[in-house]
Amino acid sequence: MLTLSVIKADIGGYVGHTNIHPDLLEKAQEMLAKAKSQRLLIDFHATHVGDDLQLIMTHERGDEDEKVHKLAFDIFMACTEVARGLKLYGAGQDLLSEAFSGNVRGMGPGVAEMTFEERPSEPVIVFMADKTSAGAWNFPLYKMFADPFNTAGLVISDSLHQGFAFEIQDVKGHKKITLNGPEEIYDMLMFLGAPSRYAVKRVMSRSNNDIAAVSSTERLAEVAGRYVGKDDPVCVVRCQGNFPAVGEVLEPFALPFTVEGWMRGSHNGPLMPVGFKQATPSRFDGPPRVIAAGFQIANGKLVGPRDMFDDPSFDGARQQANVIADYLRQHGPFEPHRLPLDEMEYTTMSGIMRKLGNRFSDL
Ligand code: F6R
Ligand code: MG
Ligand code: MG
Repeated sequence: MLTLSVIKADIGGYVGHTNIHPDLLEKAQEMLAKAKSQRLLIDFHATHVGDDLQLIMTHERGDEDEKVHKLAFDIFMACTEVARGLKLYGAGQDLLSEAFSGNVRGMGPGVAEMTFEERPSEPVIVFMADKTSAGAWNFPLYKMFADPFNTAGLVISDSLHQGFAFEIQDVKGHKKITLNGPEEIYDMLMFLGAPSRYAVKRVMSRSNNDIAAVSSTERLAEVAGRYVGKDDPVCVVRCQGNFPAVGEVLEPFALPFTVEGWMRGSHNGPLMPVGFKQATPSRFDGPPRVIAAGFQIANGKLVGPRDMFDDPSFDGARQQANVIADYLRQHGPFEPHRLPLDEMEYTTMSGIMRKLGNRFSDL
């Protein structure tokens, strides 16, 4: 069995929260190469989206492996040192603890891992987003795996016709439920349509129970009990054969759907699909970005990546995202651009109420 682990963290931005410095990538690559030479990893690819460092790793050690998680943690610590040396912005911001205790889950980094039998050909897409949160994958995962208007295979391919099962996490209530598409999609949408609370963790094929997709659902604010940065989630999707085709997996991003995040983690904005070079959210720290790294996996080797959104067929989505960004920005501090009071990651409300509370009188 092969394990694909994607572990990510923001451990320092260059400049501000817009990008990462090349020295961090270099440090990460050096440490990953060492782990590969020691045969802990079969292969790796390090990249970034905005200010988030992404470690994409293959190995045979299963999900939540202590050694692989420790490697990721050590890389984030070493990169934090590099970031401190350059006085990069928010050095070490996602590391909630400096001492590793078996698993990076709950320590700040985001994790998406899946273990599977490698198929004769194994196309996989790793989606990575910046300036948004875990629930951002609900809409595209629903479209890929449950919406026949997106995925033709659900209707016309025997291998997809039985549908997919969705494991949905209540990220605030710390509970999970598995619901089956297509029979339970109306129930499912009640949850998926509320992405600040419910997030798809996994999708499984119902023809053979094989893992189809996995996402990171860590909510940093929930973990830390205070705002420490946006979750900036990742999602891994297997494609073709018993799964949607590559083009069906990319198709949901042709709409720059609205996500929460953007400036100060407190605004709604369009999720803009971009090529790797444009993964640098700058305008009002955004708009939120998503990149798609495509790989063919061959005996654990990551053949790739192909920059899947570096394609003119996504120009329309980028243009539409800019139009939506202009429109929303004109709302300034008004909802629905600004998030509802209890969803904002930053707030001055308690201070304002301390100052003005006694000036309120009954209606
Ligand atoms: C959003 C984000 C940025 C910061 C903003 C203020 O996820 O990271 O929009 O919230 O740049 O940053 P601080 O508070 O660090 O000055
Ligand atoms: Mg940052
Ligand atoms: Mg980020």
